[in-house]
Amino acid sequence: MDSKSNPFRFGGDLGADEIVDRVEETALVESTIRNGEKLFLIGPRRFGKTSILRSADENLTAAGAVVLRLDAEAYPTIDMLVSKIVTAAATRLKGKLDLGIEQISRFFSRLKPEITYDGVEQELSISLGVDSTAKENRPVKLLTDALDGLEALALSQPRSRPVGLIIDEFQAVVARGGIEAEAQIRAAIQEHRRVGYVFAGSQTRIMTDMTQRHERPLYRLGTNRFIGPLPADEFSAYLLRHFRRGGFAAPTAAPVQSILNLAEEVPFNVQMLAHNCWEELRNKSGSKQPKLTVQLVEAALRRTVNGLDPWYTESWTRLTTVQQKTLLAVIRRQGTGMSSSEAARSLGLAVSSLQSAIRGLQDQNILRDDPAAGRIRLRFVDPFFPHWVRMVVIR
Ligand SMILES: Nc1ncnc2c1ncn2[C@@H]1O[C@H](COP(=O)(O)OP(=O)(O)OP(=O)(O)O)[C@@H](O)[C@H]1O
Ligand SMILES: [Mg+2]
Repeated sequence: MDSKSNPFRFGGDLGADEIVDRVEETALVESTIRNGEKLFLIGPRRFGKTSILRSADENLTAAGAVVLRLDAEAYPTIDMLVSKIVTAAATRLKGKLDLGIEQISRFFSRLKPEITYDGVEQELSISLGVDSTAKENRPVKLLTDALDGLEALALSQPRSRPVGLIIDEFQAVVARGGIEAEAQIRAAIQEHRRVGYVFAGSQTRIMTDMTQRHERPLYRLGTNRFIGPLPADEFSAYLLRHFRRGGFAAPTAAPVQSILNLAEEVPFNVQMLAHNCWEELRNKSGSKQPKLTVQLVEAALRRTVNGLDPWYTESWTRLTTVQQKTLLAVIRRQGTGMSSSEAARSLGLAVSSLQSAIRGLQDQNILRDDPAAGRIRLRFVDPFFPHWVRMVVIR
C-alpha cells in the first residue's frame, strides 16, 4: 500500500523541526547561552536531553551565535576533550568570522596550541603543546585553561554574538577528572560572564549528587533543570497525526494511548514501538486500509521485545541472584516500598543486601529513581525490559 517512509525515529537526537514539545526547555538552554549563564540539565536516559540541546543549538546558530556542543563521552581523556573544545572554537570562528589562526591561538596561549589548517580538506587540526602528563591533575588544569581561553575569545566578540559551550554527558568529565575537576571548573567559570554554559547528563547518582549536595563544588553554580516526560496529550496527538498521515485508519486514540502506556512514556521507547507498529501496518496486505488497533500494538510490542531478547538475556544472566529477585519484586510491587524492611523480609534478605542490590542495579543503569508527588518509585530505565521479564522469566 503506502510508500511513505516511516516517520518514527528512535536513537539519535532529533532536530528542532522534529521534536514534540520541549519548548520551555529549549528556550531555557537558549536564554542561558544568550545571557552568559550556567545551566545543568538532568534527566533520565532517553528522555530527549540531546534533542533539546541540538534544537537549541540549531536555533542559536541560525541567529548568529557561536555554539560549541560536545559529548564528553566521546572523548576518553580530558586532554582529548580539551583539544576538541579548542578545535571546535577555532573551526566555528574561522568559518564565521574569518579569524586568523594566530589570533585564535592567542586566546588559548596557555595551552600552547599548534593549529594547522589543511586548505585542501578545509580542516583544522590542533595539538596541544603542553605535556598533560607532567604533573598531577594537569589534564584538569588544561580544561580550565581552555575555558578561560574561550571566555577571552567570547569577550573579543561583539556583544550581540552569544557564545555558548554545551557539554552533553557531563558526568563523564567528573568521572574522569574527579572532585578536583568539579572544584577547578567552578573556580574558572564562576568568574565568567560572557560564555553561557550548559552541562547535561543522565540522572545518574554522579550528576544528581554533583548538583544537589551542599558540599559539592558545583552545588548552586547555576540553574538546575530536570527533564520530565513529554506531555502525554501532545505526544499522543503527534503519534495519531503521523499514523493518519501515513494512510492508516486510526479511528480512536486508544491504540496510541496503549503505545504510550506500554513504553511508559519514555520518548525513545514510544518512538521505537510506534515505528514497529507502522511496519506491522505496512506489511498488512489486502486492499483494505490497515487499521491501528490495541491488538496490533500489543503484537508489535511482543515482536519488539523478542527482537531484543539476546540483549535482555545477556543483561539478565549478568545479574546476581539477589539482583534478579530484586527486579522481580520491583515488577510485582510496581516499584513502590522497595526500601522497606517488609520488602526485604518478603525476599528473605537483609535490608542492607536489598539496598545494595538496588544500588548495583542503578549503577548499571537498569533501575532509576522516579521521584513524583512526594514519593520515590523505582522504575526500569528501559521500560521494555520488564515486559521481557514477564514474557520469558515469569511466564
Ligand atoms: N521531544 C521529543 N519528541 C519526540 N521524540 C523524542 C523527543 N525527545 C526524544 N525523543 C525520542 O527519544 C530518542 C532519544 O532522544 P535523545 O537522544 O535526545 O535522548 P537523551 O536523553 O539524550 O538519551 P541518552 O540518555 O541516551 O543520551 C530520540 O531518538 C527520539 O526517538
Ligand atoms: Mg543524549
